[in-house]
Amino acid sequence: MKQTITSIQKAKGNRKLSMITAYDALFARLFDEQVDFILVGDSLNMSFAGKPDTLSATLDQMIYHTNAVCNGAKNTFVICDMPFGTYTNEQDALKNCVKVFQQTNASAVKIEGGSSKAHIVKALTSNSIAVCGHIGLMPQNFRSEGGYKVKGKDEQNTKALIQDAKDIEAAGAFCLVVEGVKEEAAAKITDAVNIPVIGIGAGVHVDGQVLVFSDMLGLFEEFKPKFVREYLAGASLVKDAVSSYVKDVQSLDFPADAEKY
Ligand code: KIV
Repeated sequence: MKQTITSIQKAKGNRKLSMITAYDALFARLFDEQVDFILVGDSLNMSFAGKPDTLSATLDQMIYHTNAVCNGAKNTFVICDMPFGTYTNEQDALKNCVKVFQQTNASAVKIEGGSSKAHIVKALTSNSIAVCGHIGLMPQNFRSEGGYKVKGKDEQNTKALIQDAKDIEAAGAFCLVVEGVKEEAAAKITDAVNIPVIGIGAGVHVDGQVLVFSDMLGLFEEFKPKFVREYLAGASLVKDAVSSYVKDVQSLDFPADAEKY
């Protein structure tokens, strides 16, 4: 059954939520109804488009991929990740998120940022745009911070993260992704808010988990973050299959009689 904002919020404290990314209809169809929600992450800029970070993803690309995912996963709650630079002020954020809602069937958008982005979240939620927040390690800060930096390593930063979470909740977000945060800090953030906290690289004491599908299926070979568990040796399975196909073509084993008109 397709989740709603209400059913997602009711899950907190009752059952763990599962989120996975998808970028196209093919994979989205495979994930449909298996997970609570699908995130069309701007991580697609790296694994799908082959770019070094997420920053050059555009709004039109995100809309294109969100439509493909919604076409494939008709019975799953889909979230569109707002790309870098599309929510720097309330007016732009509203204009761009309205475009996503008008041109796709996404049920919500996700934006990165803590307390300093609470006014943006408020501008969206008070205009009927459901928002998933994202705090901790924020990949859109990759260039400004000079890399991916784990957060919540000391008490001061943990306090700041808890304040971020509270401010994003107060601004009306229905759930919150917490990425790349020490387990103890993520547990404190999860306890501090009433909305579900979905962790990625944030340990087990959260309300659910999200993984990038190409990481968890072992398809993305460029690098493997420490927190990823590979559930499939995707890259080697695909390479072996293609190598068998090439051999069969060369040996005339393919096509066989049953594969001809
Ligand atoms: O873009 C993405 O896939 C994400 C997840 C890592 C949460 O934001």
